[in-house]
Amino acid sequence: MTTPPTPPTRPGPPPGCPAHRLYGPEAEADPMGLYEKLRAEHGTVAPVLVHGDLPAWLVLGHRENLDVARTPSRFSRDPRHWRDMRQGNVPADHPLTPMTAWQPVCHFVDGQEHQRLRRAVTESLERFDRRGVRRYVKRFAEQLIGRFAETGRADLVADFAEPLPMLVMTQLVGAPDSYGPRLVEAARDMIQGTATAVSSNEYVTVALRELVSRKKSVPGHDFTSWLLEHSTALSDEEIVEHLRLVLIAAFETTANLIANTLRIVLTDRRFRANLSGGHMTLPDALEQVLWDEPPLMTVLGRWATGDTELAGQRIRAGDMLLLGLAAGNVDPGIRPDLTLPLHGNRSHLAFSSGPHECPGQDIGRAIADTGIDVLLSRLPDLELAVLETDLRWNSSLMSRRLTSLPVTFTPRGATGTTAAPAAVSRPLPEAVTAPARPDPVEGGAPSRAPWWRRLLGRR
Ligand code: HEM
Repeated sequence: MTTPPTPPTRPGPPPGCPAHRLYGPEAEADPMGLYEKLRAEHGTVAPVLVHGDLPAWLVLGHRENLDVARTPSRFSRDPRHWRDMRQGNVPADHPLTPMTAWQPVCHFVDGQEHQRLRRAVTESLERFDRRGVRRYVKRFAEQLIGRFAETGRADLVADFAEPLPMLVMTQLVGAPDSYGPRLVEAARDMIQGTATAVSSNEYVTVALRELVSRKKSVPGHDFTSWLLEHSTALSDEEIVEHLRLVLIAAFETTANLIANTLRIVLTDRRFRANLSGGHMTLPDALEQVLWDEPPLMTVLGRWATGDTELAGQRIRAGDMLLLGLAAGNVDPGIRPDLTLPLHGNRSHLAFSSGPHECPGQDIGRAIADTGIDVLLSRLPDLELAVLETDLRWNSSLMSRRLTSLPVTFTPRGATGTTAAPAAVSRPLPEAVTAPARPDPVEGGAPSRAPWWRRLLGRR
């Protein structure tokens, strides 16, 4: 048998070239600007550098992203194909290690093995009834709002968007109170690609091992117990890894979706007017945000299973590719006019596509939609407390996170009534006109659970 000749390789970006670096201050300051530069220079697939100046490809076209995501035979989800990893060019403490070190999870395999693992995840997630999930969201949203309602001010990122998905998710996986906010912090840290990402990853894994052994002796109505009893008979290690995956996949993404939507509601008069005037429903508003500011800007990654070509670029076996979800969503080929509303169109890339398309999207949407609905109903006169230009983002390779969203509003009692005497009185903004609910069904006092109280109280 003869070995096929290796195709001549196109030179990648020169190491250290800031024009191609997807990390570092320049890239993080304006990732969308960088994507457009790369699109102008290279077309729909661009050579880039990730941490440590390791080469990769960033897929910028909408169609090309779909091609890559939907063709696992050419572009595998399995990081063991990564040539740089196999050649020892990726140190163990590399910031991307939590996202590239292979684990026995559905996220890192293809084909039949993927179907086996993914079936356990999707069928266990489907056991939650929608109304039940929304009830949890409503209850936790009310509790969070109850912590700051009387003060007339809040940071909607730290006080609402970030804790809400994790409170809901820890409840859905059946995690006990004793796990504490450390789990929330560690889960967030490990996806940020920070210097402490590796140790945070270890902390999360240990906490989840404990959870699995508890649920074996005392099962409940939760995701962990349903994974344990699923007919695919996952091993303990597989269950731990899938819990870890679900928490991480759900937390940062849903927090970003809530924060991004609230920011637009607070800063874009037209958006608010459409929402409050009934021209746009809240679910439609979320889809618009999923197009314009997807919670994950990129997804790391896919790995070429053989030498191939994509949009005129010669991709070599073992090359790493990043799905450019944010870039693909604004591909001029499908959206020549970015100002046109999309009216609930769901063909964006925010949840990716193909066999690995997000299986938790309905839960993510339910948390964001219900949480925002409760917030806007309870505090209808929310106003941004700083200039829009003073808002700051924290960017990483995969996501761009609003660091805070300070707001003011008329102080309200814990049950949603206006606090008397009102410390500050402002007219209702024209756009958000939903009346405050006098008596939320599940509102009132914060959770009795000790760590939830600590989490709710961290300000
Ligand atoms: C707005 C919120 C969310 C967004 C934007 C989002 C987005 C994504 C994206 C882009 C992927 C990568 C797919 C790929 O590699 O091609 C993904 C995978 C995944 N997500 Fe989500 N996600 C969200 C919420 C959730 C929630 C709430 C859960 C769990 C309840 C979840 C569970 C997962 C899992 C398990 C995977 C891996 C699936 C696989 O590889 O087969 N996600 N998500």
